[in-house]
Amino acid sequence: MTSASKNLAARAAELRKLIEGHDYRYYVLDQPSISDFEYDKLFAELQKIELEHPKLVTATSPTQRVSGKALDSFQKAAHRTPMISLQNSYSPEDIMAFDERVKKFLKDDSEVEYFCEPKFDGLAMELIYENGLLARALTRGDGDVGEDVTNNVKTIRAVPLLLAAKKPPAIFEVRGEVIMFKDDFRELNEHQQEEGLQTFANPRNAAAGSVRQLDSNITASRPLRMFCYAPGVVDDSQAQTQLEFAQQLKDLGLPTSPISKVCKGADAAVAFYRDIENKRHTLPFDIDGVVIKVNSFELQKALGAIARSPRWASAAKFQPEQAQTTIEKIVVQVGRTGALTPVAVMTPVRVGGVSISHATLHNQDEINRKDVREHDTVIVQRAGDVIPEVVSVVLDKRPRDSKPFVIPNKCPACSNKTEQIAGEVVQRCTNVLCPAILKESLKHFVGRRAMNLDKVGDKLVEQFVDASLVTRFSDFYKITQPQLLELDRQGEKSADNILKSIEQSRRPTLARFIYALGMRFVGEQTAKILARQFRTIEALLEASEPDLIALDGVGEKVAHSLFQSLKSGPLKKEIERLQKCGVEIQAPEKMNPNGPLAGRSFVITGTLPMGRDEVKDLIEKNGGKCLASVTKNAHFVLAGEAAGSKLDKARDLNIKIIDWAEFNRLLTDT
Ligand code: IVH
Repeated sequence: MTSASKNLAARAAELRKLIEGHDYRYYVLDQPSISDFEYDKLFAELQKIELEHPKLVTATSPTQRVSGKALDSFQKAAHRTPMISLQNSYSPEDIMAFDERVKKFLKDDSEVEYFCEPKFDGLAMELIYENGLLARALTRGDGDVGEDVTNNVKTIRAVPLLLAAKKPPAIFEVRGEVIMFKDDFRELNEHQQEEGLQTFANPRNAAAGSVRQLDSNITASRPLRMFCYAPGVVDDSQAQTQLEFAQQLKDLGLPTSPISKVCKGADAAVAFYRDIENKRHTLPFDIDGVVIKVNSFELQKALGAIARSPRWASAAKFQPEQAQTTIEKIVVQVGRTGALTPVAVMTPVRVGGVSISHATLHNQDEINRKDVREHDTVIVQRAGDVIPEVVSVVLDKRPRDSKPFVIPNKCPACSNKTEQIAGEVVQRCTNVLCPAILKESLKHFVGRRAMNLDKVGDKLVEQFVDASLVTRFSDFYKITQPQLLELDRQGEKSADNILKSIEQSRRPTLARFIYALGMRFVGEQTAKILARQFRTIEALLEASEPDLIALDGVGEKVAHSLFQSLKSGPLKKEIERLQKCGVEIQAPEKMNPNGPLAGRSFVITGTLPMGRDEVKDLIEKNGGKCLASVTKNAHFVLAGEAAGSKLDKARDLNIKIIDWAEFNRLLTDT
């Protein structure tokens, strides 16, 4: 080996270590220490070296998480020991009864020590490490035989490809749950919707659907996580208890539950159950209960199992936040991109403290799968804590004359025939003059995250369109007071407020302006990338397709579609009209690396007097950095009203908590 290639080999090894370390800090410890941008740079450097010197690629290199080819089907594989399930309990009384059974079986009335942790709502998974290498990952399947989803699980960055041990055990099997965090789920669904792809009913379905992709490239694009919680076949483990096992997992670099507690006796376990139930909505992931396990492995062995579940553990589930109601009708809505979405309109019912009257039914496939029909009685629940979902139909209560619901192949707004584009699950109206698409595009344009005409709500946009006051974006800027006064229920004061809010929206940032145009595939993130890169709308309009493809974070498909949109005559004309109407697009401000916040990292929590994105912009403009979660690298936690669990963490880590006033002092300090 020449010294140059020796250096390269050393650099590649170093990059691998660095990237593995950052994956571990981000996904396992929840303490990232570099920005995504810096991480991507390291990754790109490694990829480049490996591409130019294929001999340097190792099997466990972070670049090898995605393998090339899609499968035709998953292979079946048997579990060495069955993946059994748990008995459920649903109340503190059930937990007490479980504890009584344990003590009775052990013929010992003294307090039992329980290891308690959340019951994650995801997809159970077995990881099999052979000599420290991730050899296989199997779904639970029927408990005896699962499916081999190794290629897909390798894409989950929380899962180490190599265990962190000098002398790893020959066989180390660990079970856990693959999940998706709530925020990641919301973002994924928004993205799926924008691209006309299938949306998911809840984080669990999204996680399960992502793991069961035959093409692991798709899985790689999904933000999956995993928490490990139980041993399978394990060689020479020293762990005597669940607690020690959890520590062993941590030592091996495996992700474990961020919340767990050893509880002495049933009362303490019940207290844990109640505490987690109260906290459940503040957690970043969905849970459906807690799992209470006898801590000692020796006692677990003594207790054994009945049928398919162990005597030593109980899944204490929370009362499901579900309710029964009836579907009054199913309406079909037309989105901004022409996508048709069926929505169940229901007799309002309270679920988990919130009144629910609408639930998306996603698409025809979902309607068929659940066989949801008009006038059905259904069970509804709040999925991912926010989105109402129809869980199932109460078939006994189905009216005799009911018929399956089929989404019409005509647009409900303009009656044009709809199309199903190859590879998409949704029907689309492709009529460029469709009034529903127009209304939705205008609503998007005025939206809070777009041009932010804050006094122009959805209802008003509809009124404007119905009265033919607005037929394109620029028309908002031509509206006059007499025109407003002619509209129904519009007084002088509110008319003035509306005009004022239109006036105030005339100076959008370039990113907001691009986002407001509503081009396909251009969400807020892409709009920001474009603004940062091109700096003026004119430069963006001049961009070539290769210019767009070259952008970090913009894929080929998006670049192609974006190029088509930018070249479209009507869009260009409309941008000109907007500028003629006095819309002045603000060039992105230059970051000031020597600003008053230089070198300081902030975590934002709670409600602040400014929108979160604006606060972020402000911090970055002044040289500071924003972190997503509280880690020891944060200098300040900026806390607004109703700040949540981040405050506890800040106190734990001894990080300075500041309020809005103090933050402003930092900004003006020189
Ligand atoms: S321990 C012997 N711990 O709940 C089984 N399970 O019916 C030991 N689950 O299939 C399982 N979170 O998929 C355990 N913290 C947790 C869990 C958990 C979720 C799932 C698991 C299992 C089901 C129980």
